[in-house]
Amino acid sequence: MDKIAVLDFGGQYAHLIANRIRRIGVYSDLFDGEIDAEKLREYKGIILSGGPQSVHAEGSLQCDHEVFKLGIPILGLCYGHQIIGHVLGGKVEPGKVREYGKASVKISNKTGIFEGFCEEGNEMQDVWMSHFDQVTVAPSNFEITAFTNDCPIAAMQNFERKIFGIQFHPEVTHTKNGMKILENFVKITGAAREWSIDKFIENEIAAISEKVGNKKVFMMVSGGVDSTVAFTLLEKALGNERVYGLFVDTGFLRKGEREQVEGIFKTIGATNVKIEDASGEYFEALKGVYDPEKKRQIIGSKFLEVQRRVFSEMGLNTDEWILGQGTIYPDTIETGGTKHADKIKTHHNRIPEIQKMIEQGLVIEPISQLYKDEVREVGEKLGLPADLVWRHPFPGPGLAVRCLCAEEEHYPEEGIYPGRLSLKEYLSSEILIGHYRYDFDVLPIRSVGVQGDVRSYKNPLVLSSGNKNMDILGLVSTNITNFTPAINRVLYLLYPEKIDSITLQKSYLTPSRISVLQDADKIVMDFIKEKKIDREIWQFPTVLLPLSINGASGETIVLRPVESEEAMTANFYKMDFALLDELVEKLKLVKGVSAVLYDITNKPPATIEWE
Ligand code: XMP
Repeated sequence: MDKIAVLDFGGQYAHLIANRIRRIGVYSDLFDGEIDAEKLREYKGIILSGGPQSVHAEGSLQCDHEVFKLGIPILGLCYGHQIIGHVLGGKVEPGKVREYGKASVKISNKTGIFEGFCEEGNEMQDVWMSHFDQVTVAPSNFEITAFTNDCPIAAMQNFERKIFGIQFHPEVTHTKNGMKILENFVKITGAAREWSIDKFIENEIAAISEKVGNKKVFMMVSGGVDSTVAFTLLEKALGNERVYGLFVDTGFLRKGEREQVEGIFKTIGATNVKIEDASGEYFEALKGVYDPEKKRQIIGSKFLEVQRRVFSEMGLNTDEWILGQGTIYPDTIETGGTKHADKIKTHHNRIPEIQKMIEQGLVIEPISQLYKDEVREVGEKLGLPADLVWRHPFPGPGLAVRCLCAEEEHYPEEGIYPGRLSLKEYLSSEILIGHYRYDFDVLPIRSVGVQGDVRSYKNPLVLSSGNKNMDILGLVSTNITNFTPAINRVLYLLYPEKIDSITLQKSYLTPSRISVLQDADKIVMDFIKEKKIDREIWQFPTVLLPLSINGASGETIVLRPVESEEAMTANFYKMDFALLDELVEKLKLVKGVSAVLYDITNKPPATIEWE
């Protein structure tokens, strides 16, 4: 099958490019930008992704120059375009202005990737730009194919050598005809459009039978989309007698989830799924623990312990058994592949024990080539219920990472800010919050964030009163986190109306706190389904903070809906305030809840989950 390679230079859209190429019908693999050119010989085309660096910066990512000697068609996007300029003898310099966002380019040459573009006299195209550096002199034998006022070489090509560079991003939907540009490139590569979900299912079922031979497969299932689709494919290939599932109830599931999962497996006709209630053990192991990393670690090792116990109870030996996993493509790339993209954490499907089994050929991962949207499509084609196929991703440690624990208050250290201002004075200044007239308070608790490759653990800030406008709130939030390193997350107060005091209650993971969170989470999930906005939201964590506002009895709920493709980056979801008021009215009635906040931070700088 013909394939196209995407080389990742740390751009937030690298996965998106690969995903788009597959949508066009050609299988696409994502690689570290610095991959050895020799490994790319079998590919029909190569796309160089964007990235946040400057080609001139010390230690910046460079591609193997041999890539340009392979004779394979190349498309460079943004940083990739600058690499082409830099490596092939053109000039890359800082632009006069930092362009970020919508721009209009004029197409001056309608051949190559712009073939079939726009009528005579109507060559303007809306595109998405994001750059500081730009190519100012094209390499020799390159012609300019598009430009803007601020960017004279917005696109260039060497048609003979089939090398194309564009400064903007065709892969994002803001670039109106972006897919057409990518389709043109695919056409130029000559790659046959042979990749489709139907084809995948057909090939995979054959591949599973071959790999498993006459062994049996054991798999941990969570009731989420990935593991259920993988499990169903295994059953299709091997029959339900040879596929065993284990579902562990950790105590941190959503309300009614265990029953729901049992229902799902009944629907798909699975006969060998064992449900193990380990909630008592989990709560016991987490008594008195408040540190997020410690929580995660205890939950992770407990999971392995339960898995091992069931393994030995069932007498699973490696002569007869293989381990199945619902790993998907981004999970495998995050850890082993690109070291430059925002690294999440070692995925639980790639811990050392499992890595060893993979090397011994004892693991089968039927959907490890697929992106989430493709997994959903496979699910639909296999006839799984829509409710399951469209379930939001849910973290392995479940509500445990959404139930924050703390022993004492933790405020940021008092630094000295520009103009010798204190943190509070600086935040109140005109350039940050002052101009927008919101009240604000820093919360005495920390949450996780991510900036570049580095994880942060900082305080959130709550805005209150002022203009109830999500666009303005988003702008203020970005300004605050850009200019105040002590803050990595910003919230808006929905209930009560104002903050007079904030007190922290010493709290750990207990069944009663999880039960409050389950009730609130259920209201939220039912609400978005009822309002039919669940599909436009990628994920909607509801988080419980051990904080009491204005001395009320009960804790604080945070609503954290996000929009995302693949969870590497995310935007906070801008919910309509009328809807939010309705939701808050329902949440106020939950026993144990006394305040509601709305998370208005993108990823980066905050992560989707709070810890
Ligand atoms: P963050 O919070 O890093 O999350 O922006 C990115 C995606 O990963 C999910 N997530 C997890 N999934 N085990 C999981 O199975 C975990 O420990 C975990 N932590 C985060 C998160 O829900 C989001 O989809």
